[in-house]
Amino acid sequence: MEAKENQQFIPCLPESAPFTPEQRAYLNGFLAGLFPRTSAPAGMPVQAAPPERLLPLSVLFGSQTGNAEKLAKRIAKEAGKRGFAATVYELNKYPPTQLASDERVLIVTSTFGDGEPPDNARTFWTSLDSTTPKPLRTRFSVCALGDSNYPKFCGFGKDLDSKLELLGAQRAHPRADCDLDFEEPFTKWLNEALSKLGNANLAPAQLAQSRNDIEPDATSPKYSRANPFPATLVANRKLNGPGSEKDTRHFEIALGDSELSYEAGDAMGVFARNCPQLVGEVLATLRFSGDEPVPGRDGLEVQLGEALLRHYEITKIPPALLKWLAERSGDQLLKKLTAPDVNGELSRYLRGREIIDLLLAHLEVKFSPTEFVALLKKLQPRLYSISSSPKTSPNHVHLTVNVVRYDSLARSRKGVCSTFLAERAEAIGPLPIFVQTNQNFRPPRDNHAPMIMVGPGTGIAPFRAFLHERQAVGATGKNWLFFGDQRAATDFLYHEELGTMRSDGVLSRLDLAFSRDQAEKVYVQHRMRENADELFLWLESGAYFYVCGDATRMAKDVDTALHEVVQRAASVPFEKAAEYVTNLRKQNRYLRDVY
Ligand SMILES: Cc1cc2nc3c(=O)[nH]c(=O)nc-3n(C[C@H](O)[C@H](O)[C@H](O)COP(=O)(O)OP(=O)(O)OC[C@H]3O[C@@H](n4cnc5c(N)ncnc54)[C@H](O)[C@@H]3O)c2cc1C
Ligand SMILES: NC(=O)c1ccc[n+]([C@@H]2O[C@H](COP(=O)([O-])OP(=O)(O)OC[C@H]3O[C@@H](n4cnc5c(N)ncnc54)[C@H](OP(=O)(O)O)[C@@H]3O)[C@@H](O)[C@H]2O)c1
Ligand SMILES: Cc1cc2nc3c(=O)[nH]c(=O)nc-3n(C[C@H](O)[C@H](O)[C@H](O)COP(=O)(O)O)c2cc1C
Repeated sequence: MEAKENQQFIPCLPESAPFTPEQRAYLNGFLAGLFPRTSAPAGMPVQAAPPERLLPLSVLFGSQTGNAEKLAKRIAKEAGKRGFAATVYELNKYPPTQLASDERVLIVTSTFGDGEPPDNARTFWTSLDSTTPKPLRTRFSVCALGDSNYPKFCGFGKDLDSKLELLGAQRAHPRADCDLDFEEPFTKWLNEALSKLGNANLAPAQLAQSRNDIEPDATSPKYSRANPFPATLVANRKLNGPGSEKDTRHFEIALGDSELSYEAGDAMGVFARNCPQLVGEVLATLRFSGDEPVPGRDGLEVQLGEALLRHYEITKIPPALLKWLAERSGDQLLKKLTAPDVNGELSRYLRGREIIDLLLAHLEVKFSPTEFVALLKKLQPRLYSISSSPKTSPNHVHLTVNVVRYDSLARSRKGVCSTFLAERAEAIGPLPIFVQTNQNFRPPRDNHAPMIMVGPGTGIAPFRAFLHERQAVGATGKNWLFFGDQRAATDFLYHEELGTMRSDGVLSRLDLAFSRDQAEKVYVQHRMRENADELFLWLESGAYFYVCGDATRMAKDVDTALHEVVQRAASVPFEKAAEYVTNLRKQNRYLRDVY
């Protein structure tokens, strides 16, 4: 893949052009005048201010599933309106040495894994210490995206913010830590950070107007996360055979007249409803009728029953509720668990426990309906990797979903969205959805390039899309899939389809790992190791290496196996193998979509 793929500067100068930041800003401003913008690509100065007065600004992003990347483009656009000449860089493509010359830097990054950088920020992060020149002139501010359900909330954004300060950069504006509803804190941070980075060049009237004018998301289509499309679920098919321990579904969602488009590698966001039986049980436990007026997720009044069905998470225990119960029940264990620095013990306590368990265990604690919903988190959409290609299925999106059901503390539990899709969505009617673009996860642009895909379980989803895509465009690059699941007889997802692709030659190699067909577990990474020499040959011939599926265990083990494959096949020490894998990442040839 081309090294410049993820920078957004059309028609700005490439950052490799041999100019100082000031010269670049001047020339970018000049280009902006030559190519007045009709749409809004990022990284472009758009203010009508004279080009020589534009201030250079580097906008850096680290993003796994596309949120921070979208926000980076918005930063550049907004900055353009305020007299900056912004250039957007993916963090891995931004050499830390450039911090020596960049005077203004805004960073927006998510956190992945357990407080770790997203993949496209990893190599930047590891080279930040070793290659950073000192002293730094940079004035910076960080907007961290995260999810407060994770123990290390915004962990990477926090680490990066501290590291830059440690290296001598000046924090121009305090870091913003944004939860899943990032729109409001992001807009506030952007407004303030741009003001702090300062533009004395703009006339006060222009500045005031642009401050009031931050656009919500001009790059999104008509339907988006903020305005989901009411789609129709037209197919719901179980992919596992009788006797399987799993329930993996193939769903098809009609996009109707939405004009929504997608690409192979994108995900679909789905807004689900909670299980009505669970809503009934929560209401009964709290002795509410469900008719009580309470604020809904957007602050507007709704009835409590409706709020618990559609507006708030009612399974996962939020920290605020735990704290409330700890304070009012006097329960020593809850008190201990809500003290700072108990992450490990708290995670163990929360695993398999839901809100209903806490309420039943503490019937003595009373809430008003409004107090109760104020302690809950907003119901978030769930993302699913799209398993179809728009080349073969432009009007329908396919999803491959593991239906989450398990027993804990003597109760049957259900994942909110996967069981909603499997059990209730068809009967209810319109399904609110949106497309979450993921520019970081695409089939190779080069149709001749080989592609290695590791996708056990539902990890097969985007690779089905990639294969459909490659078949449709007549790509000649070889394709190798590692797939695994529990049992060959019942869990070989898309068995027939993959068989046809194999005989058609679209799938050059298919290696299978059915974990429970023998006494010892066999996983996809075992197959990788068994084929180390050939896998390495593919990599050497320019293959892209993709991984999709479980993040906590599988993706980590596959990463370890990849290092071992390189080490063994190339007969090099571990450090050299690690360097090789880092280079794959830098070249965007090691891409992951893990969850
Ligand atoms: C970019 C991205 C792409 C994704 N693509 C896919 C995809 O293609 N297919 C797919 O199926 N999923 C995919 N997911 C995961 C998906 O978004 C949901 O997280 C998943 O469907 C569970 O959501 P839910 O609402 O059904 O369950 P939730 O209500 O969110 O419940 C899940 C939670 O239940 C708990 N839990 C689950 N099992 C157990 C257990 N055995 N014991 C105790 N606790 C347990 C865990 O706390 C878990 O976090 C993707 C996620 C991301 C971020
Ligand atoms: N919270 C958890 O503990 C947990 C665990 C797994 C999956 N999940 C979630 O379940 C969903 C995905 O389920 P899925 O249907 O896609 O499949 P999956 O549960 O990930 O299983 C697919 C296959 O991967 C195997 N596997 C298990 N551990 C592995 C490892 N370390 N390395 C490689 N392969 C491994 C499984 O074997 P075995 O099952 O026989 O070991 C199975 O054969 C995701 O949302 C994922 O995050 C959660
Ligand atoms: C597998 C996985 C791991 C995550 N780990 C963390 C975490 O440790 N801390 C955190 O604050 N957020 C975590 N998040 C939440 C993401 O940071 C959040 O969804 C963010 O909006 C994603 O932005 P992006 O699309 O730019 O990557 C995680 C999300 C996923 C799917």
